[in-house]
Amino acid sequence: MRKLAAGNWKMNGSMAALAEISQLQEMHPNPGVDILLCPPAPLITQAKAAAGAQIAIGAQDCHANASGAHTGDIAAQMLVEVGASAIITGHSERRTNHGETDAMVAAKTSAAQAAGAMAILCLGETLAERQAGQTLEVVARQLAGSLPAASTANNTVIAYEPVWAIGTGRVATVDQIADVHAALRSQLQDLMTDGADLRILYGGSVKAENAPEIFAIPNVDGALVGGASLTAAQFSPIVAALENT
Ligand code: PGA
Repeated sequence: MRKLAAGNWKMNGSMAALAEISQLQEMHPNPGVDILLCPPAPLITQAKAAAGAQIAIGAQDCHANASGAHTGDIAAQMLVEVGASAIITGHSERRTNHGETDAMVAAKTSAAQAAGAMAILCLGETLAERQAGQTLEVVARQLAGSLPAASTANNTVIAYEPVWAIGTGRVATVDQIADVHAALRSQLQDLMTDGADLRILYGGSVKAENAPEIFAIPNVDGALVGGASLTAAQFSPIVAALENT
């Protein structure tokens, strides 16, 4: 399985910041892993031009419907048409700030798959759920509730992102990550025929310094990186760590 280094710019970046993508591409002319960057939607076309063939460009969200009266929303097919080959769904910031339920995330994930994009389906527990000992139960429920039946190892990637580790500098421990990824792997194998091949990313304060340790954990097939994906200088060593795993 080819590993995946994915970056989520969230609501950061600008036309000027696209130089970071060109720089990253120059630093990894022949990458040994898949590289994906998800800038804000208005930058996708230019990001694709800056990225060249080695770096894929994705989006951070899509609407569940193909078209219609949904002011401000963007359909998956529209994102694909302007250059996105992947779409993040169910990020905890959308689940929290936009009230997205597992059912809504499942519908968006289906829409992304139907448009021909690879869905990067995010899930993860809150600090309160972790402290209450509910982590495995929560992620199992999220996976069962938001993974469409048509999912395959080719059109879907799972990103385990403990909410308390996102943007906080707090990283889950090796044991915590290993436990959740093993549970997700086993559930994926129960749910799908190719569940053994579906990539499971870890996300939450991944940086150059902690990347080698995280990538050595079984069933960690890459990372979804927020803050440290914004510059080539910070993201490149994470890509290199994954290549060296
Ligand atoms: P972070 O974000 O790397 O800044 O913690 C990860 C994410 O939200 O995907």
